[in-house]
Amino acid sequence: MSSTKQTDDLNSVIRQHAEWLSGQLHAQRENLFPPNAQKSMRTFTSGEAAAMLGVNDSYLRKLHLEGRGPSPALTPGNRRHYSAHDIHDLRVLLEKTARKPGDYLPGRREGDHLQVIGVMNFKGGSGKTTTSAHLAQRLALKGYRVLAIDLDPQASLTALHGVQPEFDLHDGGTLYDAIRYDSPVPIADIIRKTYIPNLDLIPGNLELMEFEHETPRALSQGKAGLFFFRVKEALMQVDDAYDVVVIDCPPQLGFLTMSALSAATGVLVTIHPEMLDVMSMSQFLRMTADLMDVIAESGADMSHDWMRYLLTRYEPADAPQNRIVAFLRTMYGDKVLNAPQLKSTAISDAGLTKQTLYEVERSAFTRSTYDRAVESLNAVNDEISELIQRTWGRT
Ligand SMILES: Nc1ncnc2c1ncn2[C@@H]1O[C@H](COP(=O)(O)OP(=O)(O)OP(=O)(O)O)[C@@H](O)[C@H]1O
Ligand SMILES: [Mg+2]
Repeated sequence: MSSTKQTDDLNSVIRQHAEWLSGQLHAQRENLFPPNAQKSMRTFTSGEAAAMLGVNDSYLRKLHLEGRGPSPALTPGNRRHYSAHDIHDLRVLLEKTARKPGDYLPGRREGDHLQVIGVMNFKGGSGKTTTSAHLAQRLALKGYRVLAIDLDPQASLTALHGVQPEFDLHDGGTLYDAIRYDSPVPIADIIRKTYIPNLDLIPGNLELMEFEHETPRALSQGKAGLFFFRVKEALMQVDDAYDVVVIDCPPQLGFLTMSALSAATGVLVTIHPEMLDVMSMSQFLRMTADLMDVIAESGADMSHDWMRYLLTRYEPADAPQNRIVAFLRTMYGDKVLNAPQLKSTAISDAGLTKQTLYEVERSAFTRSTYDRAVESLNAVNDEISELIQRTWGRT
């Protein structure tokens, strides 16, 4: 009797705590983002816009004075500020007279295949979501047509993009709808535009868990088919609309991650360089290899264009971390990206207000802190952009 009572109590306590938390989070969001306020991308100084486009600021000023291209907003002192849309319009304009095709619009050309990048590691907190969000946003700002997919039921990538998984997704709307076994919907129905030009999103929430539960059932009834290709098949419906798809995977090696792995053309494994993380990674790699063997046995082609390790939350002044980094670089050579993602309070602080470093105002931080973090993220993302270009036969 008494043990049942305890269980009941625990149930109701947990339920109560869930309600409180959910209510508080909702209130907090209403505060930060009033109901009809939409998240928006900040504007960029002319210097930032020029750097992003790879031209001189003086050239942007000349275009502006000649009335060519978009009209930036002018602040007192005649400083020009460009919106992300302005930057996109400049790309279209500059590409027309580019020295090399693709200088300003680097996306796919005839014969290039869609790049699908799976960001994974079953170690929780290894930086998958932070990496996915900054990669997707940076590629979009650089002129690629990007689709970001939140495959994690925890839905952090979704929240970062201003969609609240508990409140904004009443009637489905996650990738689950497009990969479910009974009556899947067209993937186009669940793709949302974001406040960043060139960046679309498929949000996630707990409903994604259904795929983990249903797949074993479908397998036992012989109805699953090549279940690990369901994500790939769904993506094929919108293949022409994008250059790059970025998939933020959940921190486990379940059927969702397996399907992302089968859809991926590029795999990015995030590693926080600490001993416990590296030890669990050896298990992750072995299990991944076993899974890929199982998939390959069905005759599927499991070759990928590239696979890389990314060092995350790296602290260059930390001696034990450096020993692990040196060890990983010796062991895996050029499979470890040159650029590490540095640990920075700018990144975690931006995360607290559900923003990426590309969204927050530089003035909200100590300049050197912001610059150091953004330079590190840009270096990582631009190295991945180079891998994409190389896959398409360009350098
Ligand atoms: N470079 C960084 N500097 C400082 N904090 C960071 C950095 N990268 C990630 N973080 C913080 O670490 C935490 C975990 O990061 P993140 O959510 O990206 O990991 P994850 O692998 O997606 O986690 P999960 O496995 O739960 O999905 C977050 O609070 C994030 O703000
Ligand atoms: Mg995550």
